[in-house]
Amino acid sequence: MSNQDHQKLTPTGCPISHGARKFDAFEGDYHVNPAEALKWAREQEPVFYSPRLGYWIVSRYDDVKAIFRDNILFSPCIALEKITPAPPEAMEVLKSYGYAMNRTLVNEDEPAHMERRRVLMDSFDPEELEKHQPAVRALTREYMDRFIEKGEADLVAEMFKEIPLMVALHFLGVPDEDSEKIRSFSVAHTVNTWGRPTPEEQIDVAHSVGKFWTVAVDIIKKMKENPEGEGWMYLTVRQHLKYPEIVTESYLNSMMMAILAAAHETTSNATSNMFRVLLGNKEKWKEICENPKLIPNAVEECLRFEGSVVAWRRQATRDTQIGDVKVPKDARLLMVTASANHDERHFENPDEIDLYRDNTTDHLTFGYGSHQCMGKNIGRMEMRIFLEEFVKRLPHMELKTDQKFEFLPNTSFRGASELWVTWDPDKNPEKADPEILTEHTHFKIGPPSKDELYRTVRVEEISSKTKDVIEITIASLNGKSLPNWTAGAHIDFIHGEFSRKYSLCGSSEAGDQYKIAVLKETEGRGGSLHFHEKLAVGDKVQIVGPKNHFKLDETAEKYMLIAGGIGITPIIAMADRLRELGKDYTVHYAGRSLSSMTFAKRLKEQHGDCLSFYSGEDGMRMQLSELTADLVQGQQVYACGPERLLHELKFLAENWPEGALHYEYFNSNVATLNAEEEHSFDAYLQDSELTIKVGANQTVLEALLAKGMDVPNDCKEGICGTCEIEVIEGDIDHRDQVLTSKERKQGDRMMTCCSRVKGQKITLAL
Ligand code: FES
Repeated sequence: MSNQDHQKLTPTGCPISHGARKFDAFEGDYHVNPAEALKWAREQEPVFYSPRLGYWIVSRYDDVKAIFRDNILFSPCIALEKITPAPPEAMEVLKSYGYAMNRTLVNEDEPAHMERRRVLMDSFDPEELEKHQPAVRALTREYMDRFIEKGEADLVAEMFKEIPLMVALHFLGVPDEDSEKIRSFSVAHTVNTWGRPTPEEQIDVAHSVGKFWTVAVDIIKKMKENPEGEGWMYLTVRQHLKYPEIVTESYLNSMMMAILAAAHETTSNATSNMFRVLLGNKEKWKEICENPKLIPNAVEECLRFEGSVVAWRRQATRDTQIGDVKVPKDARLLMVTASANHDERHFENPDEIDLYRDNTTDHLTFGYGSHQCMGKNIGRMEMRIFLEEFVKRLPHMELKTDQKFEFLPNTSFRGASELWVTWDPDKNPEKADPEILTEHTHFKIGPPSKDELYRTVRVEEISSKTKDVIEITIASLNGKSLPNWTAGAHIDFIHGEFSRKYSLCGSSEAGDQYKIAVLKETEGRGGSLHFHEKLAVGDKVQIVGPKNHFKLDETAEKYMLIAGGIGITPIIAMADRLRELGKDYTVHYAGRSLSSMTFAKRLKEQHGDCLSFYSGEDGMRMQLSELTADLVQGQQVYACGPERLLHELKFLAENWPEGALHYEYFNSNVATLNAEEEHSFDAYLQDSELTIKVGANQTVLEALLAKGMDVPNDCKEGICGTCEIEVIEGDIDHRDQVLTSKERKQGDRMMTCCSRVKGQKITLAL
């Protein structure tokens, strides 16, 4: 036990808890599973001082993200510092190699960091990265060819350590003659910076790091002699020659060494983690083999579930507070991203792999803000291609049993040193069908799109509810449960060439079935007609979702539910839920005639005591102003129906307490962008310290995605609210149907998929 273990008080004078005293960032539980090891902290002591490490440990999602966001209050300057100080003898060894690791993009403060990042970012643009896809694909096939007939392989040694390094060297423009040295030196760099070597090991590690430094300096020297080569480091050298005061000499050498290690180690480890996790969850592996469209989200979910970067460091530049905990100036912080990625306050069922998780891209494995990993989209691209080639060529591959996974003891990087798999080569699908080798998906660079999360289901029943409405029951193909859904949720329903959104309206407890109701719209765009006329029981259809943009706040005391026409579908699900919760609610349902009103019978039976029908044919008009005249404090109104009904409610709600009205539109009124009527403008991203040009023919969302920014989005037509971003400054031209007029007037948020800017510039909190 070290002396520090006896420390009783934190630097702020508070007692140190048992859990905090026990915490060891190099061994034990943290080494086995950092997210699990900090579960207690997420629940009881989200920010605690570790006397063994001399760091404050931050474990919750919101706190970690807030620290990443503010790189002035929380300086990155210690990100590459040796976490275990070196003894003087090791320092001497490093000195003998001229080792002078200095600031790099990873650990430098502003304003130098953004100045450099700006002049060096272009190679990371998605369109630039596109050019690397064919080479990654070819390498993947070539390496797989080497072992595909063998029936077993250590994927780490035979592939995952190799290809990311080749790709990194190619991207950087570094010749691969030194690849073997670089690989072994990288491990030393990790141990040196984030590990706890013994005093004897420190000497060996120092020699390896010193040699690594020499290799990096030599490469830069050669590049400077002939700076016109291709690759990111050549670009950096040219920028150094052009802007020597921004991209300095010392920066060049330090960056070369840091990036040689970072660019491939993180992807190698993340890939091996991904295969270990998926092969260890056979159902998930099978699901991806059957539906490779899940690959981009599966990669993202694995980065969340078990990413290769599990913790990162910052230092407080003044006395401050993280959550409820006061930390002093100069406090060293270890933000455990692996723990944040398993925080149930942000991710539902965080300890499960959910291939359809719709907020998985929120994970913090790449960091966040202006220091977010620049290579994230290269890593994603490689991992997607690896996964696709394996599920196609070796779907029958399994983890070798009885293997023990070993991890390098360190605070921040995680990946097993070996990953053994086996398979029967006689069953390789390409033997029966060599054509599969010619097929592959082209993955769009950037975060996964939710629109691609298709699930195939079967039509179980089609029944007529009224003259124009059918109810369609769908069930999973394998008899397994479909994901849970909540009142207000909808799915995208896809059959033939048609895809339409429908609210779920059956029982949320029938886990293996969903029900939707489809109104035949003879004047519509053809989707509902197709479903009425062409769909048959037994057909396979695809769905995306469920997603819920119309969530029921279950904490209110009193509710009023208002539906017009087929808008009853989410409303009936809400009524069911409120009845189940024993809440005080009323349902008001307007339609052309009683016979045209879907679910009238069920509503009468199950909600009769609080139900009012308004049949137009019988002269019963729903008077919204009268109906809502006596809303009580805290009462919530949920409405779905035609545009005029919602329009009137929005108008009335301007005089209601804030947040009382919730509504869902059937359709968007966002018109296609007409570049001739629009103007271009600048979007300044405050957290990332970047300016992005939004063209007249582009939405803000498109411009952000084109620059590789991870912005959640869904409907892309201004009705779901997913792409909302906080606006710091700028005159917004709101075009969505999500915000109320009061919210629009506040001018502090916008839907980036459709809303624009009246002036020339907008500042976003991104
Ligand atoms: Fe749905 Fe923008 S993505 S409102």
